[in-house]
Amino acid sequence: ENSVAFQLMDIHEQAVTLYHHILVNTELGQPALEYLKHRGLTDETIEKYHLGFAPGQRLLKPFFDEKKTDFQLLRKSGLFSENDNGDLYDRFVDRVMFPIRNDNGKTVAFSGRLLSKQPDLPKYLNSPETEIFNKRKVLFNLDSARLSIRKNEPAILLEGFMDVISADQAGIHSGIASMGTSLTDEQVYDISRITNEVVVSYDGDTPGQKAIKRAIDSFANNSKIAVKIVTVPDNLDPDEFIRQRGTDQFMELVKHAASPIDFELNYLKKQYNLESEVDSGNYISEALTVIAKEASPITRDLYLNKVASEFNVSKELLSSRLETLTATNQ
Ligand code: GTP
Ligand code: MN
Ligand code: MN
Ligand code: MN
Ligand code: MN
Repeated sequence: ENSVAFQLMDIHEQAVTLYHHILVNTELGQPALEYLKHRGLTDETIEKYHLGFAPGQRLLKPFFDEKKTDFQLLRKSGLFSENDNGDLYDRFVDRVMFPIRNDNGKTVAFSGRLLSKQPDLPKYLNSPETEIFNKRKVLFNLDSARLSIRKNEPAILLEGFMDVISADQAGIHSGIASMGTSLTDEQVYDISRITNEVVVSYDGDTPGQKAIKRAIDSFANNSKIAVKIVTVPDNLDPDEFIRQRGTDQFMELVKHAASPIDFELNYLKKQYNLESEVDSGNYISEALTVIAKEASPITRDLYLNKVASEFNVSKELLSSRLETLTATNQ
């Protein structure tokens, strides 16, 4: 079993080399190389992440056939799709290739990005689950980021591969990302093994902000880890923000990252029209459920005071409402 995993990683290593070669040394790779340069990536970054290109013509299958690589192994690699006759075809076509490494730095999967929008095709296509790739477990760049995190840089959880790569190129080396899915308990556990502090900085758009709320809940299940939240302004994602405003401004956001409770109250506030009494009442009710989740009684009291004075309502009333909520929470 072990040796199958080994061989699958070897196949990935060869695919990384081939896709990278196509990108940087061949005519076929030119459009993809221009695309990446246009997105601000340097040769050094392209080299460091071993980015590649899977061209329109399928070439991985012929490459491995020539090497007489075992068919069953190729089948298990996730790099091919299978037709009704049982023939294998390159899974990744016309995509910029991002190798996905496991904790030991071995490539175990790919994510491929289209160069331009195409109807009916996903922007990013990931490898399927295989013997060596479980997308619920892998965190992009963790093998490299852990070195910086151990040197006391804050772990920064970002939304996408390009955010991580762009941050790294800009000097922020402690970025990691999940595989485009909600953060899992396994991933939270892996992060908690190397640090007790993480900054979540997803995209400034609505899906990103909703995902932050889910991430806060995932981290809340693990008491060892403290979470702070960066809200990237103007609907930008961290990659766009860093390229437009620079590293220092991004680190400024990280420095002033909000506590989960502040983030949630702010987020909540945006859903209500606080000019209206009815809406304000609804906001206050919802705010109390957020405050009720807070473990420290002192912090709860601080926020009760805040809400009471902000809306000019009696603190005694809020306290008694909160007590009912915390009682049912226990
Ligand atoms: P760019 O457009 O290249 O800058 O990528 P992005 O990271 O900004 O993309 P986006 O914010 O739309 O999505 C964040 C992450 O979700 C990506 O990095 C992917 O991991 C994942 N993702 C986005 N689109 C898809 C998709 O169509 N399919 C899958 N499986 N994952 C996706
Ligand atoms: Mn190289
Ligand atoms: Mn997004
Ligand atoms: Mn982006
Ligand atoms: Mn994005």
